Order: sequence, then structure tokens, then C-alpha cells
Amino acid sequence: MTLGSTVEAPATTDWWRSAVVYQLYIRSFADGDGDGVGDIAGVRARLPHLRDLGVDAVWINPWYPSPMADAGYDVSDYRAIEPAFGTSAEAAALIAEAHALGLRVLLDIVPNHTSDQHAWFQAALGGDAAARARYLFRPGRGDGPPNDWQSVFGGPAWTRVADGSWYLHLFDPGQPDLDWTNAEVVAEFESVLRFWFDQGVDGFRIDVAHGLVKAEGLPDVGTPLDAADEEMLEPAHRPDHPFWDRDGVHEIYRGWREVADSYPEGKVFVAEAWVGSNERLTRYLRADELHTAFNFPYLNAPWDASGLRAVIDESLSTYATIDAPATWVLSNHDVVRHVSRLGRPHAAGRHSLSTLPPIETFDRELGTRRARAAALLMFALPGSAYVYQGDELGLWEVEDLPEAVLQDPTWRRSGHTERGRDGCRVPLPWSGAAAPFGFSPAGAAEEPWLPQPADFAGVTVAAQETDAGSMLALYRAALALRHSQPALGGGELTWRPAEPGVLAFDRAPGFTCVVNLSDGPVALPHGARVLLSSVPLVDGRLPVDAAVWLER
Ligand code: GLC
Repeated sequence: MTLGSTVEAPATTDWWRSAVVYQLYIRSFADGDGDGVGDIAGVRARLPHLRDLGVDAVWINPWYPSPMADAGYDVSDYRAIEPAFGTSAEAAALIAEAHALGLRVLLDIVPNHTSDQHAWFQAALGGDAAARARYLFRPGRGDGPPNDWQSVFGGPAWTRVADGSWYLHLFDPGQPDLDWTNAEVVAEFESVLRFWFDQGVDGFRIDVAHGLVKAEGLPDVGTPLDAADEEMLEPAHRPDHPFWDRDGVHEIYRGWREVADSYPEGKVFVAEAWVGSNERLTRYLRADELHTAFNFPYLNAPWDASGLRAVIDESLSTYATIDAPATWVLSNHDVVRHVSRLGRPHAAGRHSLSTLPPIETFDRELGTRRARAAALLMFALPGSAYVYQGDELGLWEVEDLPEAVLQDPTWRRSGHTERGRDGCRVPLPWSGAAAPFGFSPAGAAEEPWLPQPADFAGVTVAAQETDAGSMLALYRAALALRHSQPALGGGELTWRPAEPGVLAFDRAPGFTCVVNLSDGPVALPHGARVLLSSVPLVDGRLPVDAAVWLER
């Protein structure tokens, strides 16, 4: 492995149009120093896993110094590394080593809010007027907060400080919102982008990209909130919401694009924007704004052929209007793992634990079988795709974490009614028959920061590596084919006529994908050769809840 810090990733500027990006949730990926928390040393030691998997890039969740009020999404210094994760020198080495393996590196930038421990906010609390003007401090209405805004994690979005005024935090009180009408805020984030780009980072995932700009005067949202509003991170499906998806955000991203394009190799962005429609999303993807955005309607799509096809068609046709590539994503660190969603009846659109049908209705075998089919479908679609760490192992949501270990602020802020997102953040199992399953080194001083279930023994990387029928083997085979098949990656798809409940499409040259969501086995096109199937065919037919890739 080359360690030189000048190693750059291969020089194709539009790699992001078809890349498979691996989401690396650093605190749960691999623990190098035995403190029970994943870290950069752990990532560096496990980079070969990502190379062998065949992904093109990694997106690393926030690794900056943080009091961890929200697992690192409360950043106290945007230009440094959280000591629990490592050092700046280790970060530089990781970037170089990833590049040497042909992997691009995306970081996570958190521009909507800082930590309450950030020097700016501390100065604001200390009475520094310039610092205060970078946040949203307001007088209350009577004894109450300035308006009716609710935090995404529950409770009012305002906290009162010693001088009697209130500050806005759309998330935890430890995450004060910045005022993006303040020129110093704008300049600071462009400088932070340059800081990391100069170190060879290839791009950024933008946290809460749809939330930065608030309506002038901070007017009430108005009541009652409907069900969609209350769904975690769901934007209101209405125009002119006072804090979600306001038109003013686009000017910010035009500035960021200029910064990215000032690097000859081109740096890239992917937006986390929960907006009301694909049409609203494409506004973030205009040629002088961001490159890509997560396709959350796909993540929320039901497991039925017509629902999936509708989302796929709608995505492809809307993105095509602005020549942006589609993205596809099944899971991330904020939603219930898709094995656990797909293994339940009628799980469509339910990505938080509290809105899913009860655990008794979960069938892991069914969820795993469908997750295999879902992976082959996703990797066959035109555009780029995201893999959340553990998807490749078929991990499920750990729904029975003891209450005492729950760390997501949602748990606390909801008055212990919403368990939150810890169940999809449990440390990865690498090897062995008992916890920590190789996540921490042998003889580690601390246990993993969230307990791993005993059932992880059957799904460790080591166990799956020697099992040709494993989820890991399927992911590796699919991603290897994605690289070798000219039909896959960017491009277009053509639907084939198919029976109800069946998705079948061609990709030129000579590739066909068939997914069977109907009630019975289906016949495959004549004369096609099987490249890969999610389960073995039965008498040449594709069983229910299965997918196959064919070469014609
Ligand atoms: C994003 C992150 C989520 C975080 C929130 C606040 O939605 O994905 O994990 O809690 O922003 O930063």
C-alpha cells in the first residue's frame, strides 16, 4: 500500500455519475484502539474489505471534534479530527491509502448548525455581538419561545439562555442553527470546503442541505402539523415552509460549486435534502449547483412492482430534464435497515421504528431474501448507488437494544417514546463467534459502544467470505459485474413487457434485469444466459421475491 500523501484518485471527472458509494459510519465500522468506538485506525486496517467489495468511493460520516450530542452531527471544529477517532495525520494517511486503492473519499459537512461547544457559539454566549449574529437568537413571545417551530428530535426548537433570549436549534439544543444571511457564515464554510479539498478529499455529503435558509421574520409553521410533518426529517409537503427547502438555499450552493470547480479534477457534492418532490430535488442539481442528491423516494418505495416502477420512472425522467444522474439508496444511519423494513408486511414509506408494524411481524428470512433482490435491482439501475455499511452483510435493525444504552437524542427529546436510530448503528461484525466479533481488537479494554446481538455470529465478514450463498458474496459478484459489464452504471433503461408484479428491463448492450415481486415463479426471456441471481432459479424460472441479471 502506498502511503504518500500526494496520491490522487484516478483522474476521471464524471466518476460520480455511476459510482457505488459506501457509507462508512465511522463510530461503528472498526475499532483500532480497543475503546469500543470505531476510529480511523480501524478504517485503515479494513480498507481491503472495501476494495474487495468493489465500491468506488466512501462517504465518511462526521469525524470532527464533537461533544456527540448527535453522534458527531454537532461539530465543534470543522478543520480537525475528533480525538476518539484519531488524528489529522491519520486522516491524511487514510485519504492517501484509499486513493491508492482507487477509492474516492467524501466527507460529511454539517452547515445547518454547529455544536454548542463551537468557539463561535461559546463567544456568542459570552456576549460577543459578531458571534451572536452568526446564530439565530431572538426574544421570546411572552414567557414562551419566539415561534411554534418544533425540533426534529421532539420538543420546541428553541432554548433559552441566561440573558433571557432564545436560540434556534432545529435539532438538539446542542446543535444551534447558523444564520446563513450572515456573510461570515458563508465565507467560513467555503473556507472549510477548501481546507479539506486541499487535502485531497474528493467531495462532500451535505447534511440537511434543505434547511439552511429560514423565512424572514421566522413566522410560525402553523398548526396542526400533519402526519408527514411529524415523521422524522420529513419536510412538510407544502410550498413556502418557513425552514425546509426555501429557495434561498440555492445561492449558497452556487457558491459552493464555484469552490468545487476551482479544482481541476472537479470536486463533488451529494445533498441530503428531504423535499416534497423529485421536481423540488432537481433544483439542487442544476448545472451550477450540486452534482447529486439522495433519492429518498426510492428508499421509501413500497415493495411492489408498480410502486417501484413508478418511483424509478419518475426519478429517471425528472433527473433527465437537468442531465443529472439518478441515485439509488436503500438504507442509511437515520432509517430502519431495509432487511427489517422489507421483512414486514406493508412496510412502505415507514422508515422510523415507531411507525413500523410490530417486531412480531418481522420475518428476517423474508427481509433478507428481498434485500438480495433489492440489491440486484438497485445496482442494475442507471446512475449511482449507495451502500450503507452492513448492507453488504445483510444486517438487520437491532430493535431490542436495552433502553439504558440508547444514545440517539430522539430517545431523550421524545420523552422516551421514540427509540430513535441506534438500532441501525450497531458496530459491524467482522469475525468470531462472540461480541465484539472482531470490531475491537482482541483483549480490548471496552465493549462496543452499542451491544451486538449474538445472532451477528452468523453474518460476520469472515463467515460470509467462505459462503458462496452469502449476502457478501452477492454484493461482491454484483459489483464486479457492474465494473465489467459496459451496460451497467450510467445510461438508460428500456422496460420489457412483463407479467403483473414483475419488473423487467434491458440495458444496452445485451443486459437484462428481471425482479419478481409477484405471487409465483416467472419464466425468463429465451436464450438469455444467467450472470447472477439473488436465489437459485427453479426449473429455469425465477422464484418469488428474487432478481436475476441476464446476458442476451
Ligand atoms: C442529518 C443526519 C442525521 C442528523 C441530522 C442533524 O439528517 O443524517 O443523522 O441527526 O442531520 O445533523
